[in-house]
Amino acid sequence: MASSRLPLLMLTAATALVVSQSTIAQTAVSPPGRLLASNCFQCHGTNGNGPGFDTLAGKSARKLFKEMKKYQSGKEGEGIMASHAMGYTDAQLRELSQWLSQQQR
Ligand code: HEC
Repeated sequence: MASSRLPLLMLTAATALVVSQSTIAQTAVSPPGRLLASNCFQCHGTNGNGPGFDTLAGKSARKLFKEMKKYQSGKEGEGIMASHAMGYTDAQLRELSQWLSQQQR
């Protein structure tokens, strides 16, 4: 009897381990907006809050998105921002603009 219960016990223990590991992984991962925006931090400061070029933190999400679309089109900027803007889809630009707009200045 005891031996037939062993595999079930091991399975239960393994499941508990997998669940606890995925919980840890979830809490350690940054929100998607921050991950997408982290590319901007080296020039616009951590969380877009300077020092560096223009502060992005706390700007309106709509404005940030519009500016990124202008850079993407190549009609604005000197090239640095155009190259960066081109790497993102509209959905990703919305996500990172939204996240940056929620950061403290
Ligand atoms: C290699 C440095 C660099 C990186 C990385 C960078 N930027 Fe910039 N950014 C600049 C420079 C330089 C300017 C100002 C000159 C210009 O307009 O081209 C600027 C200007 C801007 C502006 C206009 C600000 C204003 O008030 O007019 C926005 C918005 C912006 N960046 C957003 C971003 C976002 C979002 C990212 C990340 C996806 C990013 N930047 C990554 C260098 C960078």
